[in-house]
Amino acid sequence: MMREKWSSSLGFILASIGSAVGLGNIWRFPYIVGLNGGGAFLIPYLIAVFLCGLPLMVLEFAMGRNSKNSVVATLSTIRKRFRFAGFFLVFVMGMILSYYLVITSWVLAYSLFFISGVTISFSAFTGSYYPLLFFLISGIMSFVVVRAGVRRGIEKLSKFLVPVLFGMLCILVVFSLSLPGAMRGIEFYLTPDFSKLFNPFVWTAAFGQAFFSLSVGVGIMLTYGSYMGEERIVKNAAIITVADLLVAILSGLVIFPIVFSFGLDPAAGVKLAFVTLPPIFQQMSFGSFWGAVFFLLLFLAALTSSISMLEVPVATLIDSYGFKRKNATMIVSLIVILIGLPSALSYTTLQLELFGRPLLDLKDFAFGTVGIIASGLVLSIIAGWFLDPGIIFKEIKGGRRIQKLFLIIIRFFIPLILFINLIARVIKPD
Ligand code: PFF
Repeated sequence: MMREKWSSSLGFILASIGSAVGLGNIWRFPYIVGLNGGGAFLIPYLIAVFLCGLPLMVLEFAMGRNSKNSVVATLSTIRKRFRFAGFFLVFVMGMILSYYLVITSWVLAYSLFFISGVTISFSAFTGSYYPLLFFLISGIMSFVVVRAGVRRGIEKLSKFLVPVLFGMLCILVVFSLSLPGAMRGIEFYLTPDFSKLFNPFVWTAAFGQAFFSLSVGVGIMLTYGSYMGEERIVKNAAIITVADLLVAILSGLVIFPIVFSFGLDPAAGVKLAFVTLPPIFQQMSFGSFWGAVFFLLLFLAALTSSISMLEVPVATLIDSYGFKRKNATMIVSLIVILIGLPSALSYTTLQLELFGRPLLDLKDFAFGTVGIIASGLVLSIIAGWFLDPGIIFKEIKGGRRIQKLFLIIIRFFIPLILFINLIARVIKPD
């Protein structure tokens, strides 16, 4: 059977933006900024995005388009034993998806609550059977899209949802900025406190967030790259990176004015979206409307990211083991739902915990924070040191200077930075 391809450059770009823009931008980025000193965080973040995230995205697209194959097959053609590295990437990604889908289901539930005018606290929500129900619904939605295929599923949905998402975000920014006291939020967000830059953990947080946000290091962009035609890799990767950055920065412009206008704690952390914000929306005039727009935005962003994660193991079963797409999608979805169930239940009355922490938080730390850095490290070492650089140069084109610089970044800079990051995470798990 012919391997699928994106139908157009625009489709490919929007699908990749759909993958990159997710909970990481709208929900995670503002609170990481809040925890790491506000405006000053933007400096290490920009460096992390352009010096590490963007080159890794270019690398993944180049490797994918060159091999036209899954992550596992791409790595095992470099050396047979790197097959295991491929499995490691797919494993980390599958584990991220298994809890990411849980949060996706929460935002789906919250948007429906706001639309239907139901008020429910986070503890009442997690104490009910709703988390389980919505977890299954979100799993089935991702399954349906990925099963429909690269063009008819992923690309079609992204072409529609990504522009809608940008529109909704812009409307929310205008609304937020019009709140009384919004300017204090903007000041907190954009005024840099340079003393924070001496704290190395602010830097490691920036690199971790950049990877998470850009969906790099776990084989998603490699898989999306494998469906590319003759598009220009560097230019497209730059467009995707800037779009992702823009959404993160705009999300801060939505969150911080609300936080300051209602006298909340900007460093409220993970709970910000689900515990702190919903009662605030209920106090506002037309709050149900704004709450619904906010959570719907989060849901659409999360859905287009979840499908990109699901596509990685599905592509592996199709390309490396000859499965039909519909069977591959069914098997992978069932496994992800089964693995995700305990984290879906970790905040319910069952309180599934390990080492005194909810399972979901533990998975976010082990895979979304440490695992993604470890897999990015493995990928950059294999690509930098074992893959013929000529292959990458052929894909990315550009002059000799650019090629040389790119090789230095992939061989030395990214592995070094990621290694330091890994050590820092072990010393100071957060
Ligand atoms: N980049 C997306 C986000 O920011 O939410 C989704 C994502 C993909 C998160 C891959 C983490 C990941 F490893």
